[in-house]
Amino acid sequence: MKKVLVTGAAGFIGSCFARRLFRERDDVSIVVLDKLTYAGNLANLEPLAGSPRYRFVKGDIADPEAVRDAMEGCDTVLNFAAETHVDRSLQGAAHFLDTDIKGVFVLLEEARRIGVEKFIQISTDEVYGQILEGEFKETDPLNPRNPYSAAKCGGDRLAYSYWASYGVPVIVTRASNNYGPYHYPEKVIPLFITNAIDDLPLPLYGDGRNVRDWLHVEDHAAGLIFLLEHGKAGETYNIGGGNEVMNVDLTRRILELLGKPETLIRPVADRPGHDRRYALNTDKLKALGWAPTVAFDKGLEDTVKWFVEHESWWRPIKERDPEFKAWYAKNYAERLAAPQTPA
Ligand code: NAD
Ligand code: DAU
Repeated sequence: MKKVLVTGAAGFIGSCFARRLFRERDDVSIVVLDKLTYAGNLANLEPLAGSPRYRFVKGDIADPEAVRDAMEGCDTVLNFAAETHVDRSLQGAAHFLDTDIKGVFVLLEEARRIGVEKFIQISTDEVYGQILEGEFKETDPLNPRNPYSAAKCGGDRLAYSYWASYGVPVIVTRASNNYGPYHYPEKVIPLFITNAIDDLPLPLYGDGRNVRDWLHVEDHAAGLIFLLEHGKAGETYNIGGGNEVMNVDLTRRILELLGKPETLIRPVADRPGHDRRYALNTDKLKALGWAPTVAFDKGLEDTVKWFVEHESWWRPIKERDPEFKAWYAKNYAERLAAPQTPA
């Protein structure tokens, strides 16, 4: 039986991947290593709970002992664990460096020591920086422009260096913006959906004309399972949804799906260094045989429905988690008190 270590699997994407792998492959056992930061939630892994094919280890990927324990006997590693929110990185980057660089180093050292068969480092399209026209290819230079993406870039290249220097079978993936169920409500789609449900303002940064390429989280998970079989060590693969949407249009679509008025849109002070547009060329992965399957309109509609039907998942975070409340006040209080001219 294959034994796969999935780090950060109590979070949004890692849990989707773990649930999907668990569902689709009964010849695989899964070890999860997760620190359970504010973004980690064991409820996301409920379908695996109690199975003999699943073990949960609470620990930090930057802690060599925790990593040694969790990786024991594993032949495959996927590293999802990271500090992931750009806005938080702008207010303090120390945790980002600890997890997104040093954590990757500790995992790579252990993977090298025990000789794993495959190590997938989940990187991000943000390592390329912004692109005003065209699409980024895997061979394009990296130019991260905020502390989160700079830290992820460090992890991305460190992972590659362990392939180039020591032959650790590393694959690096760079995905575009994910959306779907279990998305932590600090990120724009779940924040705006849940605020709109409660008739709270939707704080749209700057002129609202920044563009993101949305990838359904199930398509991302499917792409990673595909790469477990078809990906080649030493290679980097872009994983994009091909759904470029301007933030203001995204916001309007969310309001329309919920039957809420556009007066909820509140233009606020921009994110410093706000990347204008991301766009990925995914020909390399498509040539291998993978393509996204979820149309954005349907994916967004289903996501809105999921949040409407799963208040028991997000209300405790937004209403009772003091960490979330503190974050919301820190990032938004001033902004909402001084709205900008509408987009
Ligand atoms: P998330 O914030 O929802 O979850 C992160 C998980 O990592 C949490 O369960 C958290 O507890 C865990 N974690 C954090 N620090 C840890 C540490 N030191 N040790 C062990 N566990 C730790 O993140 P996500 O949105 O699911 O992103 C997962 C990965 O995908 C990240 O590496 C991120 O950079 C990458 N990515 C995300 C997106 C996106 O749109 N969300 C797009 C491309 C790439
Ligand atoms: O592109 C991949 C990246 O996508 C991942 O690597 C990151 O982990 C993930 O968080 C995401 O980063 P973004 O910064 O693009 O996501 P976020 O949801 O924070 O913001 C999406 C867009 O919405 C961005 O242009 C900023 C804008 N925004 C965001 C928030 C939270 C707002 O206008 N208002 C907000 O309150």
